[in-house]
This record gives sequence, structure tokens and C-alpha cells, in this order.
Amino acid sequence: MLQAKKVSIIGAGNVGATVCYWLAMRKSCREIVMIDLVEGLAKGKALDISQATSPEGSHTQISASSNYEAIKKSDVVVITAGIPRKPGMSRDDLLLINAKIIVQIVEEVKKNAPDAIIITVTNPLDATTYTALKAGGYPSNQVVGMAGILDSSRMETLISGKLGFGYGQVTASVMGGHGDDMVPLPRYSSVNGVALHDLLTDLEIEDIIEKTRHGGAEIVSYMNTSAYYAPANGTVKMIEAILGDKQAIFPCATLLNGEYGYEDTVNGVPVILGANGVEKIVELPLNLAEQQLFAKSVESVNRLLGTLRENNFFK
Ligand code: NAI
Ligand code: 2OP
Repeated sequence: MLQAKKVSIIGAGNVGATVCYWLAMRKSCREIVMIDLVEGLAKGKALDISQATSPEGSHTQISASSNYEAIKKSDVVVITAGIPRKPGMSRDDLLLINAKIIVQIVEEVKKNAPDAIIITVTNPLDATTYTALKAGGYPSNQVVGMAGILDSSRMETLISGKLGFGYGQVTASVMGGHGDDMVPLPRYSSVNGVALHDLLTDLEIEDIIEKTRHGGAEIVSYMNTSAYYAPANGTVKMIEAILGDKQAIFPCATLLNGEYGYEDTVNGVPVILGANGVEKIVELPLNLAEQQLFAKSVESVNRLLGTLRENNFFK
């Protein structure tokens, strides 16, 4: 895919730099700009990744800056700036610190790349996505959060691990917020078309659901910081869908305007991604149990939005 497109990544840490590397190796765009508070870090990583492009025959030009003018004319801006989780910290502990960072960044992005589609990655994901939407006064299609692809790919890996076959053939679906109340949907999961319920017992599926919900925390407990390879992969899938106007369906965090019965809140649902960002929200016919789980997840995100409101982030 040789595309004359530009992607800017704000936050050249573990996730941001891995997104940059993956985009460059896949030749997904012509230009990548990385911005970080720590300019030397962004510069060093940009140079290192650039020096990997030639053997790959990649046309992607990579640069770094601490000046936001460098992001002008970006088609997509990815926000991966913020602090990640430390052991014992929940994604929600990051709320106020990262929301402040998001507001500062969105101000610059709005000034320098007003038409770019924004992909938020910074946690707590649903709350930062809502904060970015409000801080920039963006239409709901223009800001979309990455988490559902990651949570679904974790569930897919757990399913093939449990089965011992079907590696790379599993499609799993996780809705809901990117937190402990996420909503894995075994009814919408299959192995090359074979329904999950025909392959595993209810108990085995319950175990997969629990492990999916805590997949991020497990990685934090091993390496003292959060995951970045799988998160970067999910982000790249979204970027490529937008740059290529793929009209592809992915679970993403988006503003709900009445869909699934909820208004003025962000949550993870299947959406169609294309050149305009979120082209459409897909409404799955959830059964009662799934509706109840989704309601709990919406409630959790709304609690965080309440805290942000109390702290004057938005009305
Ligand atoms: P990291 O610490 O490796 O990188 C974050 C970078 O942001 C650092 O280089 C830091 O200097 C930079 N930064 C901080 N404030 C900034 C500002 N105001 N402007 C520009 N740069 C700034 O962290 P990592 O692992 O890359 O994670 C980044 C964020 O993504 C965290 O909030 C983490 O929780 C979240 N995350 C979300 C996932 C998801 O599924 N949505 C998955 C994995 C991580
Ligand atoms: C993850 O799920 C921490 O949100 C990050 O790995």
C-alpha cells in the first residue's frame, strides 16, 4: 500500500514509536511526524526507525519535533501521549493527569491540523476520547478511540490458546469501555465460521472472558508498564482503514448519540471506519444479558466523565 498520506503521532513512547515503526514497515503512508515533550526521545526514535526503512524499500519519511507546526496537513493524528499504568494502578487512576495532557494536545492539533481524524489511545480511553471531542468541539465522526481491536485480539488469542487449534482463524468481538467492565461477546465470536459455543463449554468461555478483561493488567504485572505491540497493531489497523477509506468494521470508542439507547457518552461499539473517521455506528441486536453488561460499562465510563465534569474539563 503506497500512500501519499501523512500521519502524526503525539507521544513517542512505547505505543507511539511502535505505531510509527509498524506504519513505516508496512509502507502505509508517505510521512510520519512524531511529537513528544521529550524532544530528544522523539528525534532518536525517528532516526532509528528511518534507518530501518531502506532495507524494506519503504518510502515513508519520518521526522520528530516538539513544535506542533510540524503536524500541518496531517490526515490522521494519533494521541498516545500520557502516563501509562504502573503495577496496582487501574486505567482510571490515570484520569485527571492524562485528561489534562489531552486538552493541551487537542488545542495544538486543532490549530495546526484542524481537518485531521484523531485516534485517541491514551487511557482511560473512553474518557480521554470524550475529553478530546469536547476540548476540540469536534463532530463525533472526527475523534475515535482505539481499544476494542486490542481487547478483541486478546480474546482471539485466548480462544485459540484454549482450543489448541484455529490460530489466526478466530474472530472475537469485544464491546464496551476499555476497563474491567468491558463486554466480550462470545455469541459474536467464531473460529472460521464455527460458533464458539459449539467448540467450548460455558465454563471455558467464562474463563476466556475473565482473562480478556484482565489481559492488560497481566502484562503490566510482568513488565512494570503497559502493553504496546498489540495496542500499536490495533491502532495501525484503524489508521489504514481511514487512510485507505476502507469502510471497514472495527470495535472502536465513539460518541453515542442515541445508539444502543445512550446519549452524550463514549463507549466501545462496532463502527465503520473510512476517510471521514467514524462513518457509521453498527447497532448489534444484543440479548438481555449483553444489554445489562453494556449498561454497566456505560455507567463506569459515565462515572469518570462525572469526575471530569466536577473538575471543570467540560460542562
Ligand atoms: P510511554 O510512557 O511509553 O509514552 C508516553 C509518551 O508521552 C512519553 O514519551 C511522554 O514523554 C509523552 N508525553 C507525556 N505528556 C506529553 C505531552 N503533553 N505532549 C507530548 N508528549 C507527552 O507510554 P505508552 O506505553 O506509550 O502508553 C501511552 C498511553 O497509552 C498511556 O496512557 C497508556 O495507558 C495508553 N494505552 C492505551 C491502550 C489502549 O488500548 N487504549 C493500550 C496501551 C496503552
Ligand atoms: C492495555 O489494555 C494498558 O490499556 C492498556 O494493555
